[in-house]
Amino acid sequence: MCGIVGYIGNNQAKDILIKGLQKLEYRGYDSAGIALVNDSGVELHKEKGRIAALEDAIGKEGKGTTGIGHTRWATHGAPSRENAHPHQSISGRFTLVHNGVIENYQQLKREYLADVNMASETDTEVIVQLVESFAEKGENIDEAFRRALSLLHGSYAIALIDKEDNDTIYVGKNKSPLLVGVGDDVSVVASDAMAMLHITKEFVEIMDQEIVIVKQDGIQVKKLDGTVVERDTFTTDIDESDTEKGTYNHFMLKEIDEQPFVIRNIIQKYQDDDDGDIKLDNAIRAALNDADRLYVIAAGTSYHAGLVGKELMEKVADKPTEVHIASEFLYNEPLLSKNPLFIFISQSGETADCRGVLVNVKEKGYKSLTITNVPGSTLTREADFTLHTHAGPEIAVASTKAYTAQMAVFSILAMDGARAQGINTGFNAINELGLIANAMETLCDQKDRMEQVARDYMFDTRNCFFIGRAMDYHVVQEGALKLKEISYIQAEGFAGGELKHGTIALIEDGTPVVGVTTQEHVNANIRGNIQEVIARGANACIISTEATKEEGDNIVLPNINELLTPLISVVPLQLISYYAALHRGCDVDKPRNLAKSVTVE
Ligand code: AGP
Repeated sequence: MCGIVGYIGNNQAKDILIKGLQKLEYRGYDSAGIALVNDSGVELHKEKGRIAALEDAIGKEGKGTTGIGHTRWATHGAPSRENAHPHQSISGRFTLVHNGVIENYQQLKREYLADVNMASETDTEVIVQLVESFAEKGENIDEAFRRALSLLHGSYAIALIDKEDNDTIYVGKNKSPLLVGVGDDVSVVASDAMAMLHITKEFVEIMDQEIVIVKQDGIQVKKLDGTVVERDTFTTDIDESDTEKGTYNHFMLKEIDEQPFVIRNIIQKYQDDDDGDIKLDNAIRAALNDADRLYVIAAGTSYHAGLVGKELMEKVADKPTEVHIASEFLYNEPLLSKNPLFIFISQSGETADCRGVLVNVKEKGYKSLTITNVPGSTLTREADFTLHTHAGPEIAVASTKAYTAQMAVFSILAMDGARAQGINTGFNAINELGLIANAMETLCDQKDRMEQVARDYMFDTRNCFFIGRAMDYHVVQEGALKLKEISYIQAEGFAGGELKHGTIALIEDGTPVVGVTTQEHVNANIRGNIQEVIARGANACIISTEATKEEGDNIVLPNINELLTPLISVVPLQLISYYAALHRGCDVDKPRNLAKSVTVE
């Protein structure tokens, strides 16, 4: 969702901020802006739409070596120039950008700002007006900023500049991600380290309800009560080239192609150098062993990975497991077991719905594990344990490599759980993952074939159904999500046997139905379901394996362990979605209305 950048250094800030904002484009946004402090005061530029529109509007203007920037994903107030950040206080002295949601902004307006004419419909504007009103009453800026922040209920990452001081950016954070970076005579601010890798790799983590006074030659971290906090820097291991498209036209295709490497990377990271077997932290192993039931909490694609994870935990590690959509669990908690372990799956590690659940379960004293692709993210910091998916930065909004990495990490967790209990699973996760990486490579090499399937089934359709049974049911839900989010084709994934209980009414002449059949024990059943839709005019596309194939199937996957087939059967679905979206002229990497990191509930 919204992205924040800030810079204080010896160079002109404009291009650095714009480059930073471009690196944050993946998060999703509908307007963008920057503000620069220079000798004549503060220069403010903001525009609705893409960063390119902002750049055009700035043109040759934009002077100053201190500045802040923002990409906005609208929550309070429509996407418009007026509602775009930065926002300014009435006198123009303070300028601020914000990511998050201020729940009590109406109340604050009534109580403290009744005589202030707001320039926007946003919740954000109250913050900058509060700072000004406290500063006018004689508080120094540090105090005024901390006082304003201590009144806020909700989530925020904030950067504020003062027209009268071109060597300070005030930043604050609560529940929304924000980092401060330090370099040689330069300091930066960013929602995500990758936005400022062109300036520094050294960052400082900010905790909730802390502020940082950022100056060119150093920073000071404080709690909201003014107590100074000492904090070490860390060096991020993200490589700048990981955040570039290279020779690809889209991040999504690059990330699909990276999947074999990601799986091999996971093998390396989770393999014990001594005996070549899986190596998990002892504390995680113990927590898993002690739990009487696992509760997997996630959203979207990560939820789909959780569905596969549940199967693996139950079938391989004999561990009762439930999977819940985070936003549902948050307000409609099921009956819990006596000794649960909560597993949060989140590519970004920032999803607000997941965090809401984590806060609640921590209050109750339950143990938690985060499976994430972003070390240092909020869910990582707040859970008891973390397993990293090691997929490298995922920039396309549509999750691909993070999804397969999540399932791979689940397979390791399940194998380790089985071993800890002395269960003989009959397979070795490390070997199987090696075969999976090879199979993914084979599938990624068949792009022409995938494009042909997209052409034959998806190029002109209004809707599309995906069906599968057992493990395949989980994958078809992900296939449908992938297609709808980037191509805007209405797509749904169903359990094969469920169609005739209602959905089959939607099948007409030419309706595309993708049937996935990788599970031998239900191969005949799903093929029966496919015949039922063909009999009603459906245009059926069948994805099978060497073990389940029949003549005429469209795509045949290499044989791997049946339980792990979701890791490879999703690859053609990702590629077909990609080509369908491409053909339909959609913005593949940045689909409309969507954000990569969903930091509001
Ligand atoms: C995936 O393609 C989606 N864009 C989306 O469903 C995503 O998986 C979901 O928002 C959860 O995000 P997370 O993994 O960062 O928690």
